[in-house]
Amino acid sequence: MPTQLAHAVAPQAQDVTPVSSLDPSEMPCKSAFPAAASNSPSNTNSNQASLKRDNNHDGVVPTKVPHYESQSSSQAAALDVTAGLMTAQEEAFAGSKAKTDMDYAIQWLKSNPETHARVLAVLKKYDAKFYQRASSSNVPFWREVLSDLVGKAGHKTATATLSPATASAASHPDDHLLPASATLNDTTTTTTPIPANPSSTSSDEEPCDDDSFFVIDLARVIVQYAKFKRNFPRLQPHYAVKCNDSIPIVAMISALGGSFDCASKGEFNMILDGGYQTAEHIIYAHPCKMANNIVAANRRGVYLTTFDNEDELEKLHRLMPKAQAVLRIATDDRAAVCEFSTKFGCPFVETTRLLERAKELGVSIVGVSFHVGSGNSSFAAYDRAIRDARSIFDTATAMGFEMTLVDIGGGFPGSDPEPDPVTGQRTLFEDTAGFIRPLLDELFPEGSGVRLIAEPGRYFAESPYAICMQIHSKRKMMKRDGTEEHQFYTSDGKYQAFNCMIYDHANPNVQVLKPDPEAKTRNTTIFGPTCDGIDWIMKQQPFPALDIGDWIFVPDFGAYTVAAGSKFNGFVTRRIEYISSLDVFDA
Ligand SMILES: Cc1ncc(COP(=O)(O)O)c(C=O)c1O
Repeated sequence: MPTQLAHAVAPQAQDVTPVSSLDPSEMPCKSAFPAAASNSPSNTNSNQASLKRDNNHDGVVPTKVPHYESQSSSQAAALDVTAGLMTAQEEAFAGSKAKTDMDYAIQWLKSNPETHARVLAVLKKYDAKFYQRASSSNVPFWREVLSDLVGKAGHKTATATLSPATASAASHPDDHLLPASATLNDTTTTTTPIPANPSSTSSDEEPCDDDSFFVIDLARVIVQYAKFKRNFPRLQPHYAVKCNDSIPIVAMISALGGSFDCASKGEFNMILDGGYQTAEHIIYAHPCKMANNIVAANRRGVYLTTFDNEDELEKLHRLMPKAQAVLRIATDDRAAVCEFSTKFGCPFVETTRLLERAKELGVSIVGVSFHVGSGNSSFAAYDRAIRDARSIFDTATAMGFEMTLVDIGGGFPGSDPEPDPVTGQRTLFEDTAGFIRPLLDELFPEGSGVRLIAEPGRYFAESPYAICMQIHSKRKMMKRDGTEEHQFYTSDGKYQAFNCMIYDHANPNVQVLKPDPEAKTRNTTIFGPTCDGIDWIMKQQPFPALDIGDWIFVPDFGAYTVAAGSKFNGFVTRRIEYISSLDVFDA
C-alpha cells in the first residue's frame, strides 16, 4: 500500500514563458524528421515513411462522416518543414532567461511555490541526494552518478575481498553463490580476482554490493513536467501509470499537479488509496474492461472512461450509470514502435453508429480519445486523429451530446533522439508539440469549453532511471567458424527490467561504467541471470573488453522496464537509490 502524501493537488499557476504564442508553421525547424538512434525505441521508426502514406485508416475510405479538413493551410505548411533557422528547442528558449529545460524547470518551480513545496517534500521523503548535472548529455551524467554509488549498497561497507582460493572457505550467507574455483568454464588462462564480497547483511533480502541497482533521478520528472506545460499550456497530463507504476514516480507526478491514466482497478485503487489524485482526475483509459473493474470504478467514482465498441457501451449502461464515456478512435500508427490500433480504437467510419447506439442506451458521451502508438512522432498521425476528433465532435454535438474532452493519448519520446547519422535530422518533443498545439488551438480553441488532456507514459518515466549491473561470470566460446565469442553474465535480464526488449521493442544502450580507453572491442554476448537461453541483453556485438567485477549500465531505462518485470528464477533488482539532478532546495 503506498504511503499517503498529505496534500491536496492544487491547480497549476501560470507557467513561465509559455511558447503557446509561437506558430511553428511559421518557424521552420531543421529537426523535422526522426533519426535512427540506438537506445530509444522511438527512434527506430521513420516519419518520412509515414508522411508518404495515405492517411486513411487501414485503407478504409470513410463513407458516412467526412474527415474534417482545415480551411487553413498552416498545418500543411508545418508538415512541409524544411531545413531551417533554429531548432524547436532554440525557438522555445528564445527571449527567455532559461536556456535549458533544467533552467526552465527551476524558473517554473519559483513561480509555482505550492508545487515547489510539494516537490521538496517528495525529494526529502526519498532522501534524494543532489548531483550537479553539468550538461544535458545523459551518458556522462549517469556515469558520474553511478560510479559514485557503485559498491555502496545501503551505504554499507564491503567486509572482505575473496580470492577464488578463499571463497569456498568463507562464512558469508551468500557465499554459496560464489564459485569454489576460478575456472568458471572459462577457456582463458587468466584468473580473475573475485570482487569485493557482498556486504554482510542480516537478511538475504537486503541488496548486496554486487547486486544490480537502479538510480532514480526524481528531478527528471520535474524537468519533463515543466517542459510539458511549457509546450502544451492548455493540456493536462494524465500520466499513464502502466509505463512505470513505482510509487516515487507517481508521488512526484502527483506533487507536480499531474493527473493519471489508469488501465485497471489495480491502478486506480493505487492512485486513490495513496491519495495521489482524486477520482475526477483519473481517466480509466481502457476501451475493453472487465465487468468487475467497471463495478470498482463505479464504486470509487472514476467515471471518465474510454470505449470503442457497442458491447462496452452496453456494459457501461448496465454497470456505470454515471459514466462519462470517451470514444477512442483508431489512428494511423504504422510508424509507431508499439502499435495499438490493431487492438483498440473504433475505425472512423463506424463512429457514427456507435454514437447512435450510445444515444439509444442513454450513455453520456463526453469526448474523443486516441493514441498514435508508443514511440510515434508522426505528424501525419496526429493531424488525422485530431481532425477526426473534430468531425466526431460535430456529429455528436448535433446528436445532442455535450462534448467537452479531447484526449490526445501518449506516444511522446522519453528523451531526445540522436540525429540521424545520414540526414542529421530528428524529431524532438518540441517539434511534435509545435505541430499539435496550433492544430488543437485551431480546431478546439481556447474558450470553446473543451478540456484537452494527454496520457504520456514514456515521456515521464524513461529518462529518470538508469540501471547499473556487475558482470559476475564469464566464459569464452569458440564458434565453428573459428571466431571467438566472449560471454558474460549479469544480474538483471529479460525476465526483469530488460523485458522491454521483448514487449517494448527496446534496444538498450549498454555502456561500460569505467571505460578503459585502451580496451579493444571483442565479439560480446551479455546474458541476464536466469537459466533461459533467450535471457540475453546483448548478443554477439562488438563491445569493449569486459571482465568479472566490471560494471555496465543503461541510461534512460524507466519506461516499460520495472513495470513488467518478474522474479523468475528468484532474481530481482532490489537496490534503488534516489537522486535529484536539480538543486531544488535552492530554487
Ligand atoms: C491508453 C494508453 N494511454 C497511454 C499510454 C502511454 O503511452 P506512451 O508511453 O507511449 O506515452 C499507453 C501505452 O500503452 C496506452 O495504452
